[in-house]
Amino acid sequence: MTTAASNLDAYWMPFTANRDFKANPRVISGASGHYYTTDDGVKLYDTFSGLWTSGIGHCHPKIVEAVQQQVAKLDYCMSFQVTNNKAIELADRVTKMAPDGIDHCFFTNSGSESVDTALKIALGYHRARGEGNRSRLIGREKGYHGVNFGGMSVGGIVPNRKIFSTALLPGVDHLRHTLDIERNAFSRGLPKHGAELAEDLERLCALHDGSNIAAVIVEPVAGSAGVIPPPPGYLQRLREICDQHGILLIFDEVIAAFGRLGTPFGAHRFGVTPDIITTAKGLTNGVIPMGAVLVRDTVYDAFMQGPPNMVEIFHGYTYSGHPVAAAAGLASMDVYEEEGIFEQSAALEQQFEDLLHSFADQKHVIDVRNFGLMGAIEMAPRDGAPGARGGEAHKKCFWDEKLVIRNGMDILQFSPFLNSKPDEMEQSFAAVRRVLDSIE
Ligand SMILES: Cc1ncc(COP(=O)(O)O)c(C=O)c1O
Repeated sequence: MTTAASNLDAYWMPFTANRDFKANPRVISGASGHYYTTDDGVKLYDTFSGLWTSGIGHCHPKIVEAVQQQVAKLDYCMSFQVTNNKAIELADRVTKMAPDGIDHCFFTNSGSESVDTALKIALGYHRARGEGNRSRLIGREKGYHGVNFGGMSVGGIVPNRKIFSTALLPGVDHLRHTLDIERNAFSRGLPKHGAELAEDLERLCALHDGSNIAAVIVEPVAGSAGVIPPPPGYLQRLREICDQHGILLIFDEVIAAFGRLGTPFGAHRFGVTPDIITTAKGLTNGVIPMGAVLVRDTVYDAFMQGPPNMVEIFHGYTYSGHPVAAAAGLASMDVYEEEGIFEQSAALEQQFEDLLHSFADQKHVIDVRNFGLMGAIEMAPRDGAPGARGGEAHKKCFWDEKLVIRNGMDILQFSPFLNSKPDEMEQSFAAVRRVLDSIE
């Protein structure tokens, strides 16, 4: 398979071992449905549906058509002071899909921007209500909230923070993470142990006084750290503690929203409604970059004070609510509904869980975790070479099995299409098994 690319050297790749990649580049030039293709026409099955982005599949004709039509009709218009019809329509559509009470939508261009926007909204909300002292933010160890300064500060993945540690936001604390392989290894779905870890929030309220805390942000199911579902009752307890202390609860649903957990939002699946939801990825099925921050009425209303000719929040992006992205978003919402994508996702869960857990007796495997259509197989690191097994698995899958998988160090992560075909899912895991059989 040739994957030659001209002047590869100019391109500094994100979250990639650049030198290792450039020695053996893996370049995609086309996609359709559940497959990628390389320049020379080799087809690869995508086990990660983009980067948790493309649950419907690649190049869905309806989304492609919507984007083509929109770009020819209105390519861009100013996002401050005037707006475009598609952004208005999409905000209405997405808030109608969101849990009851979440009625307003602020557009961004990515998950990272959604998170930093949400943190700013939380601080502004308290200040508008005369509680500007509430400035502390709480994240969680192993949390991933993107790479901007706010998200990085509340995030809890060590290498993402390490070299920036002196520049992180002040006044941030972290709950302990809920990954407990000793007690919960090979849990199917939510792990039994660990709900008591939600009490960390009470401890921080006692330490700082809850009246100084603005917001708590968590992913309902931690994704990038290697799929860490919450123990039953954990999110409910965070909600209770937030209510007791007047703290805003933010669910970072950049991955969990739009069917990944078999429901429109992760909040629906857990029966817990936060005050703010951050999204991106599935909002446009990954077709055009776009994110959104969805907020309760009470949060929005707190800003809508003062002289009506004044800007209420001095925040926004040139491309907030971009018309072409919004058109992709509207077409994605149509496909989600017309093709019953969330229902298809829910129906695939059992097969996905069974396939993942068939790796429980595989050599090197120390844990398997899953919830909805998010799954991980964790391998023990090779002595003195953490990440080597995972990296080898990724490359062997690509070259030998024509399969794109994602690894974070030695954790293989899976994010199948929400409309995966059962036989293709089975074949893809058979291929992963052949690869893991060959890895020492
Ligand atoms: C939960 C969560 N938040 C934020 C982000 C950052 O999104 P982006 O890469 O679009 O900035 C991600 C990306 O994977 C994510 O999973």
